[in-house]
Amino acid sequence: MASDKLFIQTLKGNQKDRVPFWFMRQAGRYLPEYMALRKEAGSFLDLCYNSDFATEVTLQPIRRFNMDAAILFSDILVIPHALGQDLAFQVGEGPVLTPVNNIEKLEALSKDNFHDHLNPVYQTVSNLSKKLPDHVALIGFAGAPWTVATYMVGGRGSKDQAETRIMAYQDRETFEQLINLLVDVTSEYLIRQVDHGAEVLQIFDSWSGSLPADEFIKWCVEPMVKIVQNIRAVHPDVPIIGFPKGAGAKIKNYIKKTRVNAVSIDTSTSTSWVRDAVQPLCTVQGNLDPIMLVRGGAPLERAVHHILDHLKDGSHIFNLGHGIIPQTPPENVKMVSDILLSYRR
Ligand code: CP3
Repeated sequence: MASDKLFIQTLKGNQKDRVPFWFMRQAGRYLPEYMALRKEAGSFLDLCYNSDFATEVTLQPIRRFNMDAAILFSDILVIPHALGQDLAFQVGEGPVLTPVNNIEKLEALSKDNFHDHLNPVYQTVSNLSKKLPDHVALIGFAGAPWTVATYMVGGRGSKDQAETRIMAYQDRETFEQLINLLVDVTSEYLIRQVDHGAEVLQIFDSWSGSLPADEFIKWCVEPMVKIVQNIRAVHPDVPIIGFPKGAGAKIKNYIKKTRVNAVSIDTSTSTSWVRDAVQPLCTVQGNLDPIMLVRGGAPLERAVHHILDHLKDGSHIFNLGHGIIPQTPPENVKMVSDILLSYRR
């Protein structure tokens, strides 16, 4: 039986009076209760791999703000970690990995311990599916192969993903082998999340905007087509949300080819264009500027209404265009949540 949760109904294209909402990175450093638990856990990765703590951190924003969906607390980089790549999160640096940038290093990775390594994440999903309030949907997630590959190859975050683009253009065969591996393990990982109780999946392609159009098709669209097919072969009804950040107008072809149920829209995309060109194709999620959420006050209120006014007549889930940043005052998140809870189309 299809769920009657507002979030899931909206993803199936059945609009209701209220617009459902959640925020990317809704659990995180802007919340004092998150900082307290992270300190207790030891590090960010310890938090991700401790199911009790990760469950609690996932629930924290729901208690404060009553969103329509909770997103599993984890990170996209647990996949390379589970394949045996070194990973550390350094304060002020972000993720640091030992680069996998040639065939020898790629062949040194192994799937043997993959699901055992990720077992705490599956356990978190199971815990959450029992603990969430009845009306709140549980989102599982993974990074898309291209975005995960940019960290695996570059060894850290970068502004232009140059090292990874060089590998993709120069050593195409090896890079394709890496992407194919990621398609396989990401599909398995997401299928297991649904097995354990995830009701919706979101796939983050945060760096898809750095590729020219034909490379975007090869490294972002085609792998995503396969992942969606692999998931639907096992779980035909689970709604899938794609987030090809920075794709601009290429998002139309992304939707048509991948056949996702919904797309997340980044902040730079115009809401009137989304209404006219994207909303007729699928449900859209977005796209408040996370920096406006730091600003607060009347400008924030206007920005929220601007998005609602433009997207309310189609299938819409309110969200940000990217994740909440640590400087965000929790009371601003509360203000936006209260507007959305009382808003009617
Ligand atoms: O949205 C949520 O609340 C769920 C949890 C979640 C995290 N990361 C927790 C996190 C999700 C869905 C992610 C996705 C993620 N992780 C992406 C894709 C989305 C995006 O933001 O573009 C990417 C690229 C990553 C990789 C990553 N993780 C980076 C680059 C960083 C460092 C930057 C930063 O904000 O510190 C992380 C760390 C990270 N992931 C934190 C959290 C809460 C901060 C860790 C800390 O507590 O210090």
